[in-house]
Amino acid sequence: MCGIVAYIGNNQACPIVIKGLQRLEYRGYDSAGLALLQNNQLNIFKTKGKVSDLEQFISTKNTESTIGMGHTRWATHGVPNDVNAHPHYSGSKNIAIIHNGIIENYAVLKEELIKSGHSFMSDTDTEVLVHLIEEVQKNDQCSLEKAIQEALNEVTGAYAIVVMDKNDPDTLYAARKGSPLVLGIGKDEFFLASDATPIVEYTKNVVYIGEEEMVVVNRNNGFTLKTIQNVEKTPYIHELELKLEMLEKGGYEHFMLKEIYEQPRSIKDSMRGRLNAIDNTIKMAGVKEFEHKIINANRILIVACGTSWHAGLVAEYLFEDLARIPVEVEYASEFRYRNPVINENDVLIAISQSGETADTLAAIKLAKEKGATIFGICNVVGSSIPRETHAGSYTHAGPEIGVASTKAFTAQVVVLTMIAIYIAFKKGKITESRYHQLIIELDKIPDKVKHVLETTNEQVKQISDIYKDAHNFLYLGRGYNFPVALEGALKLKEISYIHAEGYPAAEMKHGPIALIDENMPVVVVATNQSAYEKIVSNIQEVVARKGRVIAIVTKADDTIKSLAEHVIEIPETEEPFSPLLSVVPLQLLSYYIAVALGKNVDQPRNLAKSVTVE
Ligand code: AGP
Repeated sequence: MCGIVAYIGNNQACPIVIKGLQRLEYRGYDSAGLALLQNNQLNIFKTKGKVSDLEQFISTKNTESTIGMGHTRWATHGVPNDVNAHPHYSGSKNIAIIHNGIIENYAVLKEELIKSGHSFMSDTDTEVLVHLIEEVQKNDQCSLEKAIQEALNEVTGAYAIVVMDKNDPDTLYAARKGSPLVLGIGKDEFFLASDATPIVEYTKNVVYIGEEEMVVVNRNNGFTLKTIQNVEKTPYIHELELKLEMLEKGGYEHFMLKEIYEQPRSIKDSMRGRLNAIDNTIKMAGVKEFEHKIINANRILIVACGTSWHAGLVAEYLFEDLARIPVEVEYASEFRYRNPVINENDVLIAISQSGETADTLAAIKLAKEKGATIFGICNVVGSSIPRETHAGSYTHAGPEIGVASTKAFTAQVVVLTMIAIYIAFKKGKITESRYHQLIIELDKIPDKVKHVLETTNEQVKQISDIYKDAHNFLYLGRGYNFPVALEGALKLKEISYIHAEGYPAAEMKHGPIALIDENMPVVVVATNQSAYEKIVSNIQEVVARKGRVIAIVTKADDTIKSLAEHVIEIPETEEPFSPLLSVVPLQLLSYYIAVALGKNVDQPRNLAKSVTVE
């Protein structure tokens, strides 16, 4: 949560920082601020609201400076207001800080600092850190660099910080632990940011700052990378593959709609170089090295949060059904705190779009300590989770900016599907001809997703208009489509703020059926597969109670057509691949309902794209 950007060079810092904050706004959007060094003054401008409010706020002010830093906030400590917005000053106002993360021991530190005479303006943990830095510098009579190191060694929690010093207009100090930080290296200019999106416009050369590392960037002398224990490190300069157009809406009204529509392409990108329907093979470099571990695993543990957890549930069906490996899927936040039984014969798969989710990271660390093999499935290249894993596969869905995850989900499911098919074959659990059959069908999925988008969009829009004022929705599915029901309900909750529940269809009669009346829209994923008759019965049970059924069916399903009020048709496919098609109309449904209700689709209230706090 929270996005940070900083600039030092020969150009004006303010427009670069503001543009960067707009790119990072998906990380938090309750307040924003900027610090600039101007004529030996360290000036801070900040306000409650979005980056556009900050832009408005500074529009009449002098913002000339070639060194500056900015922050867009998702509140953890202290309500979203002008005072709690970052940057924060030290007591003397000689130092300013921006911070993404949480200083867990801030209360104790604050108490000690108050005893030493410090007073605080805000309720934030961040202000405590900048006061601590100043206190260390004063007590030890040391350089700011040393004081930052010492202060960071005293704090517990997570941070990506940038620090500016009133008395040094040529230097930016930055460090990270648990929260992401990227350094961009331009020609006589440097950028620091929570991810590469604010940087890509100016340079492709970046260094991903590692855990407990610090970078000191000097306008004239370049940068030095070291640990917060002051051990020098050799930086590894990556070349970004990210393209600027990936970060723009490209004519769509919202990023979410763009991302839904990108799925035929993003699914293809996830398969590229891995699934080959000509020679009928799956080759995944990340899997190859550790395939013996997966093949011989006692069980596979899957940890993730939110939508990624739903992808994990689909994977449970895939791995057990195809590869016959026992799978347990768990919320990372529960797993990490319940003293789970883990041993060396377990393989843990961590799924995360952002690669930064705090609970998923902590779950990985725990399983690693206990000897499990850790495999990561992430979208953001260079993020924290891939660095903590033994092996992994990137999903290659491209940047996902809408807070509600769409293309990242289908990319995760595709990657997990390829792994499951590959392992199933290698383990001898499916025949060669079945292996080939599955590969040929999986290769057709991008075109089928395209077809779903083309044929269902208008119909879903009309349905959205009918049900937009409902207060509750029920989503039902069975087997492979049970996780899709959960995902459909989550999408609706997130962006339209309508209460929705996902349920395995058969569980309905154990409770939720009591909720059904003529006001309850019930979305049923009822594709023509193994539990088809059962789900038809479930639909009948809903209809008998006057529930209003919106069914996602396989083409030419006359039985359900005669029962449901609305029928959305998707193409036939292999049952294990059906989530990749059935989820698409549900994504559209939540999108159009949120639009009809006038909600902020890309930046729903209270949420952030990257959840770096537990
Ligand atoms: C998805 O729409 C949500 N915004 C959220 O549930 C998300 O999937 C979850 O926070 C996990 O994020 P990750 O995939 O980046 O780890």
